[in-house]
Amino acid sequence: MNDTTTSSASGSGARPTKSYGSFLPKDLARLGRQELEALLFQLDYQTKTKTECKYDYTAYRDHPVEFCKDVLGVTLWSKQREILRALATEPRVSVRSCHGAGKTFVAACGTIWFVQSRPGSVAITTAPTGRQVKDLLWRRINAAFHQALLPMNGRCLTTTMDCGYEWYASGYATDEQVSFQGPHSAQGVLFVGDEASGLAEWVFPAVQGFMTQDDAKMLLIGNPNHASGYFYESQRRWPKPQRFKISAFDVPEWVLRPDWKEEMRLDYGVDSPTYAIRVLGDFPAQSESSLFSLADCEKAMGRWFDFVPEDGFALGADIARYGTDESVAYVRNGYKVVHAEYWRGHDTMQSAGRITELCRRFWPHTINVDEIGLGAGVVDKLSEDGWPVSGVNVGQAARARPQEYDNLRMELFMELAAQFAAGTISIPEDDQPLVDQLTSLTYSYTSRGKRKLISKEELRKNGLKSPDRADALMLAYATDVGGWVAGGTAGPARSGWA
Ligand SMILES: Nc1ncnc2c1ncn2[C@@H]1O[C@H](COP(=O)(O)OP(=O)(O)O)[C@@H](O)[C@H]1O
Ligand SMILES: [Mg+2]
Repeated sequence: MNDTTTSSASGSGARPTKSYGSFLPKDLARLGRQELEALLFQLDYQTKTKTECKYDYTAYRDHPVEFCKDVLGVTLWSKQREILRALATEPRVSVRSCHGAGKTFVAACGTIWFVQSRPGSVAITTAPTGRQVKDLLWRRINAAFHQALLPMNGRCLTTTMDCGYEWYASGYATDEQVSFQGPHSAQGVLFVGDEASGLAEWVFPAVQGFMTQDDAKMLLIGNPNHASGYFYESQRRWPKPQRFKISAFDVPEWVLRPDWKEEMRLDYGVDSPTYAIRVLGDFPAQSESSLFSLADCEKAMGRWFDFVPEDGFALGADIARYGTDESVAYVRNGYKVVHAEYWRGHDTMQSAGRITELCRRFWPHTINVDEIGLGAGVVDKLSEDGWPVSGVNVGQAARARPQEYDNLRMELFMELAAQFAAGTISIPEDDQPLVDQLTSLTYSYTSRGKRKLISKEELRKNGLKSPDRADALMLAYATDVGGWVAGGTAGPARSGWA
């Protein structure tokens, strides 16, 4: 604290509001007790927050990679650089990664960069246990701090970096409920969660409390140990520039010994959850009852570009039933979704018009529309105009295996999930809501032992969105349903699905 303080630190929320300016002794004598106390508080506050920071790294505020190189003297590998660059531009960044990729290393560098480049800022760093905070993250922070090429502001102790009044970084374990609420700083707040899969869930609502401020940032980084919880959701829902995945096959040899992957393969096998988590950086397969795994969905998104076009298109549409729902249409060519369209408002004619436009553009050989509710009007209109449309009632009995599946919707989703698992399907790369909806689909069993998909009503009760996009995709890939038999080359499903 002695070597630095800050000129601009705004301090805690209890900032005095009334200014007393300069006082003559006779004025002071007239002040009441409360006013005197307020004056003393203000003077005390001004002394504590005065003066400048000793070493000015504010030029590195938006340049973490350069800070690491020039000031800390460390060389980051490509993904580490991408992660810190994203942290500079995005409010939150989530990284799931294999073992030994330099996660803790990059989190430590990021913490030092944030605090040193923003006088008066606060960094709250956490890990699940005290050992992880002290022996891993803070040991790394201490090493980087003390081996830096240029002098650092403040001092670095076991789990704190103390740079001045209300200008610090601090480490907490989340296995005991501690209070780190209220670090309010106009100069920026960074929250770091190392081993983010294991952080206690109470942490995240507390963090939301200070993410409302200007220049508030959050870095979650860790092995993808559990396919549930906040960290998992961050990988499922946050937009693409905020999500990173590191597989052991990406990590340079100077960071991770190359034979290690092979040893893991021999010890656990490539299909084991251990291999998925520690080598591939993938979450283990979700609960038994989910239909689509995040890993499969992400692979399907990645497959967007390398596709061989086929003859003919198929269209699937789900028409909104309630005001809050979305109407969706997907057009596929072979295995690949080539066009997606979303609209709101549930005017039947408007929806029919949108689909007609798509028909004129793609001339699909198959058009499957969910005919329950408002979809029926759309089906009528399209068929009146002569388009090869099938109204699909997904609530009716399963087609091929009625003894196994409760209804057609369950059956068609099982078939779609099989295609995802087989790695044949390609979906648009930026369609995060679709992945979100697919991975939220779970099933249970009826008293007769048939698989039954979670209903839209149940999803809604659990605070999840109606899976309109998932339904439309399922319909786009469904063939030979609803009576109209697809002509032309119907794409992937024809052999196996019919
Ligand atoms: N950019 C880097 N420069 C030098 N050493 C690194 C770098 N990244 C990682 N390391 C080293 O690699 C090892 C694994 O890093 P660590 O951050 O502990 O990995 P993780 O947290 O992903 O398991 C550590 O010894 C660390 O010092
Ligand atoms: Mg680590």
